[in-house]
Amino acid sequence: MSFDTSKLGEHWSGRYEIKKYIWGTDASGMARHALEIFKKHDLKTLLLAACGYGRNSKLFADSGMDVTGVDSSTVGIAMAREFDPKSNYVCASVMDMPFDGPFDAVFSLNALHLFPKHERAQFIAECMSRINKGGLGYFAVFSEQESSYGKGPKLEENTYESLPGRPAHYYTEEDLRSEFIDSEVIETGIREDSDMHADGPHTHILRYMVARKR
Ligand SMILES: C[S@@+](CC[C@H](N)C(=O)[O-])C[C@H]1O[C@@H](n2cnc3c(N)ncnc32)[C@H](O)[C@@H]1O
Repeated sequence: MSFDTSKLGEHWSGRYEIKKYIWGTDASGMARHALEIFKKHDLKTLLLAACGYGRNSKLFADSGMDVTGVDSSTVGIAMAREFDPKSNYVCASVMDMPFDGPFDAVFSLNALHLFPKHERAQFIAECMSRINKGGLGYFAVFSEQESSYGKGPKLEENTYESLPGRPAHYYTEEDLRSEFIDSEVIETGIREDSDMHADGPHTHILRYMVARKR
């Protein structure tokens, strides 16, 4: 069984309209981790795929990187332009980005896992196609160690509608590595990432992949 992701931008616009800076205004720990790696490799231009309202792009832009954020939520992009005027923003689907790049790096947090299997492959291919040979992709996603793993209706292997209207895929290490067989895996692992939820602070157990484009 698959599910329709064409309305995800509207879904998130509705959530941003009601909750505003839903995960707070501080950058995620995953973005800080990615920034360390990007700086170590002297990467200067960054594509931020599914950037939301700009909490992470601001970190990269303030550190001197030249950042382009893409998100399909009109509300998210409007908030991002106000929150982080240093970055460039484009309201578009990651599946159909209206520019070629190339960038030195791509970063994406908590977005890839929102798609069914065939679209996850497309998401990664579209992102990696926008970076230079030798450039790095950093993708952070739900892992099978998340507290919501296995909750709600099962839609695909390791994919559950753990929140109504928000199916999510929960990645094992093998599963995440299998998405990057065309790239060189630089580093992969699990990290705890805390942010705000409606009922207070919440810690996600995320899996990340740092992959070099061959
Ligand atoms: C869970 S939010 C994460 C936002 C941001 N990465 C963060 O951590 O603050 C998922 C984001 O993916 C965006 N999104 C969903 N489908 C998309 C698509 N096809 N293209 C671009 N953005 C998309 C949503 O609009 C939403 O902003």
